[in-house]
Amino acid sequence: MPKSNSALYRSCNLSDIQLSHRYRLLVETVEDYAIFMLDAGGNVTSWNPGAERAKGYPPEEIIGRHFSVFYTPDDLATDKPARLLAAAALRGRVEDEGWRVRKDGSRFWANVIITAVHDENGILLGFAKITRDLSERQRLGEFESAAAASALVHQARENEQKRIARELHDDLGQQITALKMALARHETELLQHVSEEATGLLRSVREIADQMDTMAKSLRRVAADLRPPVLDDLGLEAALEWMTEAFEQRYSVPVRCDIQALPLRLNDLAAISLYRVAQEALTNVARHARANEVSVTLSADERHCHLRIHDDGVGLAEGSTLRGDAFGLLGMRERILQLGGVLSVQSTPGDGVTIAAHVPLARILVEATP
Ligand SMILES: Nc1ncnc2c1ncn2[C@@H]1O[C@H](COP(=O)(O)OP(=O)(O)OP(=O)(O)O)[C@@H](O)[C@H]1O
Ligand SMILES: [Mg+2]
Repeated sequence: MPKSNSALYRSCNLSDIQLSHRYRLLVETVEDYAIFMLDAGGNVTSWNPGAERAKGYPPEEIIGRHFSVFYTPDDLATDKPARLLAAAALRGRVEDEGWRVRKDGSRFWANVIITAVHDENGILLGFAKITRDLSERQRLGEFESAAAASALVHQARENEQKRIARELHDDLGQQITALKMALARHETELLQHVSEEATGLLRSVREIADQMDTMAKSLRRVAADLRPPVLDDLGLEAALEWMTEAFEQRYSVPVRCDIQALPLRLNDLAAISLYRVAQEALTNVARHARANEVSVTLSADERHCHLRIHDDGVGLAEGSTLRGDAFGLLGMRERILQLGGVLSVQSTPGDGVTIAAHVPLARILVEATP
């Protein structure tokens, strides 16, 4: 049988009146928890400011009403309020987590503890109920699982891109090379057999060979965009240099690549994530910025690695980053968050965009092997 409240009070040296006064003050001060009493039948008999804040009822509207008003129709259908009271009466205390309903009909995720209150003779007087709003914590939990799911998607996509890049390079790339060699052989043979008048035919063979060169170049570029071999072979610093040179050649916009950090021994996830951030930022520059100059800077201090991509273009138009179908900036943010870092996007209209990622080294370096 649980100890009665007055038995608990008596274990201190304060009088019952002093104690109940302090107890009331305590309960009336608490705003983070809904603390209230129910009579043995489940009707509300007291109500603290925390209860008003969590459930929206002022005391005069709820005292005297049955506590089942806080439960959802589903819970009422299974008689949950009565079952909880019966369990608390039997075991002394019961704990529950689930949806509860506010006065305005909205729901919140609550942790609820119901404790049976008995008098000295063990007669049930009622119940003390403490409710805590866990909506924030639940939202955080949902956010964490969404972030974990998104990390898995990124990882799966990287693996798939790596596989396709290898297939493109090893299979299709080799076939184009073989075709080109065969064509060169035929060209030499044709030269020996055709007359001067048929040189037009030779010219078209040469044109086909040139087209095949262009095709091989495009294929290498597509494969490298999917997964640059230089990243796996030489690391992020070399891959950034390669990326900026390729950007400069392709879009005729000068890019300064400034590697200020000593070579960092980055783990795979960090290398590909930082690489993808720079790649997406440069793609955005090409698509949206109309820039004259771009800079990519990689640096590190004792505790952080910093990646910054700056352009001097038109800047972010108002509301442009809020488009529902734009995933570039969102993806960058997710990748950096996954590394325990932060990503900032700064711009004033007409004054270019600066993307800056700051990532803790502790999370991104390959652990030193003893
Ligand atoms: N460097 C930049 N200069 C000017 N505007 C930019 C720049 N980067 C992004 N923006 C603006 O921000 C918007 C959102 O960028 P984000 O990369 O998220 O999406 P997107 O490039 O439009 O589409 P995608 O999902 O293919 O990346 C862009 O549509 C563009 O209006
Ligand atoms: Mg984009």
